Amino acid sequence: MTASIPSTSPAHSSEISAALLGWYDRYARDLPWRAAPGSPAADPYRVWLSEVMLQQTTVAAVKPYFEKFIARWPDVEALAAAPEADVMAAWAGLGYYSRARNLVRCAGEVAAMGGFPASEAELRKLPGLGAYTAAAVAAIAFGQRAVVVDANVERVVSRLFAIAQPLPGSRKRIGAYAETITPEKRAGDFAQGMMDLGSGICTPRDPKCLLCPLSAHCAARSEGNPVAYPVKAPKKPKPLRQGTAYWIERGSAVWLVTREGRGMLGGMRSLPDDGWAASGDGSGDPPLTGEWAPAGMVRHTFTHFTLELSVRRFRGEVAEAPIGGEWWPLERLGDAGLPSLFAKAARLAQA
Ligand code: ADE
Ligand code: SF4
Repeated sequence: MTASIPSTSPAHSSEISAALLGWYDRYARDLPWRAAPGSPAADPYRVWLSEVMLQQTTVAAVKPYFEKFIARWPDVEALAAAPEADVMAAWAGLGYYSRARNLVRCAGEVAAMGGFPASEAELRKLPGLGAYTAAAVAAIAFGQRAVVVDANVERVVSRLFAIAQPLPGSRKRIGAYAETITPEKRAGDFAQGMMDLGSGICTPRDPKCLLCPLSAHCAARSEGNPVAYPVKAPKKPKPLRQGTAYWIERGSAVWLVTREGRGMLGGMRSLPDDGWAASGDGSGDPPLTGEWAPAGMVRHTFTHFTLELSVRRFRGEVAEAPIGGEWWPLERLGDAGLPSLFAKAARLAQA
């Protein structure tokens, strides 16, 4: 970390971590993957699984998926032995599907190693474990001192130190400041306390500074306008892509495909579509020739673009199955593991 000159004195730092840990001892959220504050660390498998799920996804959305995964695959060996397609289907709705593919690969490596490694550096080498996840698992599951910075922690630290540089450029600086306040002991509780503070007290639009254990140390609060932090660089608007998804019904079944490749939705089941390359000119051919009726449009925001997906229903009799897919019984459509975008498209087509 060379980006900054954190000026926190050691005494000040330990006051901050002590205040935060004391608050966490009283107010920690009770979450299914957590150990109670101050108690022995939670099972690394549960910590890892939850942290992977929690990247880009809210606690509320993750909870039912976490419970479902733990019931079905109670340990890393069980997950390692699962067919990738089953895990992908169980992940459907959580988004960012490369996480699910890496999950299976990572479980395989960990099972072969006889368990999770305890150090941040070794964890970082596992498939799908970026800097954040490696630090979170090292701290939370193994009690290692590691600096854990997610979006909530970014906000709290930006305010605590009134970091004027805008995100994302300020990430290194935020990390350097977070480093100065991370304690030697209980780094996992500290990390989760910072997350809970960011989620319940130091919220984006309405920070509750009067309830905050760090208010005496907070530079943004003494400036008077904490919501000014974190400063953000103006966002570029996302490009718009357009595409078409096709609903083909025969008897009481619908035609589904499994998407190719390891890309964004690779390995997921979906409705057939035109590849979304079009900017309105309908370049991709429909999978059947005949009459199609419009059934509405679904908008979905991905990391790098917004998609407008038109849904079209085939109106004729299906004489011959299209190529490369399967007839899926409509009454079991919920088990197909469709990503949210296609689940919405399917609802439109059936309306
Ligand atoms: N977000 C990411 N990891 C988390 C955790 N361990 N507790 C609460 N929120 C989180
Ligand atoms: Fe956030 Fe207010 Fe606490 Fe500062 S005092 S960390 S702005 S809640």
